[in-house]
Amino acid sequence: MIVVGGSSSKSLATEISGLLECDYVNIINPSFPDGECYVRVDAKSLDDDVVIVQNTYPDNNLVEMLLLEDAVMNLGAKTITLVIPYFGYARQDKIFKPGEPESAKVISQCLSTKCDRVITVDIHKESVLKHFGCPYIDIKAADAIADYVKNRDIDVVISPDIGAVDRAKKVAEKIKVSYDYIEKIRLSGTEVIMKPSKSNYSGKNVLIVDDMITTGGTIITASKQLRNAGVKSITVACTHGLFINDALNRLKSNSLNDVFVSNTLTTSVSKISVASLIAKALKEW
Ligand code: R5P
Repeated sequence: MIVVGGSSSKSLATEISGLLECDYVNIINPSFPDGECYVRVDAKSLDDDVVIVQNTYPDNNLVEMLLLEDAVMNLGAKTITLVIPYFGYARQDKIFKPGEPESAKVISQCLSTKCDRVITVDIHKESVLKHFGCPYIDIKAADAIADYVKNRDIDVVISPDIGAVDRAKKVAEKIKVSYDYIEKIRLSGTEVIMKPSKSNYSGKNVLIVDDMITTGGTIITASKQLRNAGVKSITVACTHGLFINDALNRLKSNSLNDVFVSNTLTTSVSKISVASLIAKALKEW
């Protein structure tokens, strides 16, 4: 097996190849002068099973992934596995208003024309996976989150959304504490409201887990509700840290105990590694 690290995920790809004790191949990607993506895989031949690790967000990384697939195929890859730590475009998984595309389907289908299998991590909507025209696995980062927080003083794990309570449950069961959820109502892409919590969290150290932090609105609103319910401290652990519009600084100024995310996206708080979960999936597949 050979691991190729795309420009979004070099450090994660290096970690995966180290765990698998297999070769790591770098890529060279200066842009064309007009800004178009240029990419070259730094190898003469890839006569092996090849794993490309690369996000499909933002758009330039999606283009790079498509070009990398062609490049490794031209170098003789026997099979191609795409590891997409953060899969972009999973939000638009259906037509909400007439005239919209099924973006998630379009992107999944484009990506899977040249590959043999796909690994994603906590994809935003699991319904997207069926559009890959090849076998797929969606890895759950809950195990890595639980390992990271196991020595911290956490009393209860909270999901800021009933639909994602299974993630909170999984983390809570692993660190042997209780779990709960807050009911979220999304008003727009940037606005959410939450029903006041019915539970009494007086004096509790709470861990909020979610799949992603984008604007930070969900976490900030959940924190306010939890403070109203009397919590002692709030720690936040999410899989993907997109942190748009200075979200990380806004979160830090909200008296949160600590905020950390996994290394599916590289940020200053990407402290939880999903490399061993990905390596295990590649080894056992
Ligand atoms: C929603 O379905 C997701 O699980 C996240 O809660 C959401 O995408 C976070 O976005 P934001 O940080 O903008 O509230």
